[in-house]
Amino acid sequence: MILDGRKLSEKRLEMLRETIEESGLYPRLATVIAGEDPASKLYVRMKQRACERVGIGSVGIELPSDASTGRVLEAVGRLNGDPDIDGILVQLPLPDQIDAARVIEAVAPEKDVDGFHPCNLGRLLSGNPVFAPCTPRGIMTILEEYGIETAGAHAVVMGRSIDVGRPMAILLLNADATVTICHSRTRNPADETLKADILISAVGKAKFVGPEMVKPGATVIDVGINYDEHGRLCGDVDFAAVQERAGAITPVPGGVGPMTIATLMENTFTAAKLRACDPVL
Ligand code: GUN
Repeated sequence: MILDGRKLSEKRLEMLRETIEESGLYPRLATVIAGEDPASKLYVRMKQRACERVGIGSVGIELPSDASTGRVLEAVGRLNGDPDIDGILVQLPLPDQIDAARVIEAVAPEKDVDGFHPCNLGRLLSGNPVFAPCTPRGIMTILEEYGIETAGAHAVVMGRSIDVGRPMAILLLNADATVTICHSRTRNPADETLKADILISAVGKAKFVGPEMVKPGATVIDVGINYDEHGRLCGDVDFAAVQERAGAITPVPGGVGPMTIATLMENTFTAAKLRACDPVL
């Protein structure tokens, strides 16, 4: 079975558009980007287009590639204090001279629609998330919508980043899975991945996951965005070979990526609803 993230995201965005329309709210998302990285610029444009589609206003702040940490903090501070802004997204990665951790911690937790602030990651760890990071939350939606049982399942997450691997593991744990995290120092990843009912790869290496790492019938979720030796977009998973063995699999493109954006829209609406209930938040 192909897990069609594009189709599912279309459905979720349409549902959200209707919900926002009925709510009478006009949520607004601010995106902050520093520098000229073409991939980051493309992602931000895709996020802004999704905003337009569902009835969320978007404000784009563009800073030069040599911007200082102070300059980014100043922009974030202004957006924190702007009553017309519900959500703030600082596109990562930031240029090297910028202290990304300081910037992430500067975003007001109630506007942190990326869910990267330690306060939101802590809430996730406590089992009561407000904003969970968009990529892993979008993956949970795929599993839920396709009826893939997490309770009691053995889930193996490859990668331990703050934006994907770690929050993914916690979301799966909160959904009653037995979770293993593999990372670059794991001695023999295949020993772990072969036990996975649900295998999530977020390692960033083209065709890293071959069929010899996959248990027959497993659900395989590919978070990778890589380019193969011919310059073609591909995930972490050798799709053609693994498809034969897996029970369900996400393609790249058209799997996890569109769900990340749909979840960002959902988080932004959540932020707007929370602020509408309690404007002093
Ligand atoms: N860069 C790659 N993925 C993401 C994401 O989900 N959020 C932000 N802010 N930057 C990213």
